Amino acid sequence: MTNTAVETSKSKADTGALSAADRFGIVEMPSLEYSEEVARETAPLYEKVKHHIPEIEWPVHAPYVYAINKLKKERNAVILAHNYQTPEIFHCVADFAGDSLQLAQQAEKVDADIIIQCGVHFMAETSKLLSPEKTVLIPDMKAGCSLAESITGEDVRLLREANPGVPIVTYVNTSADVKAESDICCTSSNAVRIVESFESDTVLLIPDEYLAQNVAKETSKKILTWKGHCEVHERFTAEELLAYKEADPAIQIVAHPECPTSVTEVADFTGSTSGMIDYATSQKAGAKVLLVTECSMASNIETEAPGVEFIKPCNLCPHMKRITLPKILESLVYMRDEVVVDPIMAEKAKHAVERMVNLKTN
Ligand code: 13P
Ligand code: SF4
Repeated sequence: MTNTAVETSKSKADTGALSAADRFGIVEMPSLEYSEEVARETAPLYEKVKHHIPEIEWPVHAPYVYAINKLKKERNAVILAHNYQTPEIFHCVADFAGDSLQLAQQAEKVDADIIIQCGVHFMAETSKLLSPEKTVLIPDMKAGCSLAESITGEDVRLLREANPGVPIVTYVNTSADVKAESDICCTSSNAVRIVESFESDTVLLIPDEYLAQNVAKETSKKILTWKGHCEVHERFTAEELLAYKEADPAIQIVAHPECPTSVTEVADFTGSTSGMIDYATSQKAGAKVLLVTECSMASNIETEAPGVEFIKPCNLCPHMKRITLPKILESLVYMRDEVVVDPIMAEKAKHAVERMVNLKTN
């Protein structure tokens, strides 16, 4: 499998410009001793993750949490984390956590020199497009996405040639090269509204076939699509979910729109990761919610929904899981890996992302 996202972004070293390490300097790796000070300072954070991290493991995580939080202040850096990051990242070091749209909006807003993107590459690239003046680092450049890797800019050019006059809406889970060839981006939280913002009766919504099919059920527009799939959500089946419901009819099924339509058809609610969180956390105590998405999300929100029982059929995203506390600390110490987008491509791609972010219906 190729990583198109990585191909479209070069390090500063490749371009002959000064690297982030040259511009900001590297610092000494902080001590990773579990000292009394570390234990004291991180104790309130442990409270948020104690249901997921056994007490005996905390002395391993705590020195990283302490060092990251100290260094990010010294570097004037902010950590933007996706809802699928592990609890110790989501609750203990992130300055802001959210879905793809919220992270993009936050990247534009935050007052910082450096963004550390705890998520996958397309998210870091989107931050860079919206904040070209900021240094955007991703703790692991190999954190890709099966959707982003399913399509190239050349594919989009060919689609446009084959469908003259049909607007092209590109899911934000794509490389800058693909965004640059499209009219507007969308995320799972605004896809229906973006599609409906066009006058045309037919709209290309690419590259997620299942997102497109789910959107098609909610609009009168004719939706054309591509054969990309999320390797996490495509694995859920209606049969496995119905088996839970048969065992306990009170269980509410909450699904992400990257799931096949056979799955969303049996769901009580379908929405973006933040939409799923809002739905789950607004349930009364005693409710049972089955989250049809990546494993970490239920762990991250359990404390926000006391009394709600979460059922986790749970598939891991191997790309999201490449981001770890030790790699985040290395990013801050060594100022790597920097996400850089070719300026001509960036200008076009930024236009597509900005049209989405600025669409009044968001
Ligand atoms: P959200 O925009 O809903 O957070 O989805 C991003 C993603 O990658 C889901 O698999
Ligand atoms: Fe991509 Fe799916 Fe992972 Fe989201 S969960 S980053 S869509 S592979």
